[in-house]
Amino acid sequence: MSGYRTFDDQQRIYDDKVKKYRRQGYADTEALELAGQYAALPGCSEHQLGLAVDINGATYDVYLWLQENSYKYGFIFRYPGNKTGLTGIAEEVWHYRYVGPEAAAEIYEQGICLEEYVQN
Ligand code: DAL
Ligand code: ZN
Repeated sequence: MSGYRTFDDQQRIYDDKVKKYRRQGYADTEALELAGQYAALPGCSEHQLGLAVDINGATYDVYLWLQENSYKYGFIFRYPGNKTGLTGIAEEVWHYRYVGPEAAAEIYEQGICLEEYVQN
């Protein structure tokens, strides 16, 4: 559903999220914080690198298949729910990032996120 994004694309996505939370009654600072859990700040999204894709499946099975198989093709489940403290992003079952088959296999086998992988 979403692959490469320009800075302006990301800005629009981010602003729309902030507006959505403002409409729901959140104050500015809360709206910014909530938006930031799902949309990277413009300039900071890996979609802008062209290395990320959002895949939307008709059923949840697609996400389970991706979690178990994407590493074979060099993609990682980038924002798992148990790593939000490290990634700064809420769980996104649709977002995959290309890191190459070798790194993807290590990340998958060790059950770590990219932040942990680059620290090792
Ligand atoms: N949704 C992810 C975090 C992004 O905007 O890059
Ligand atoms: Zn994404």
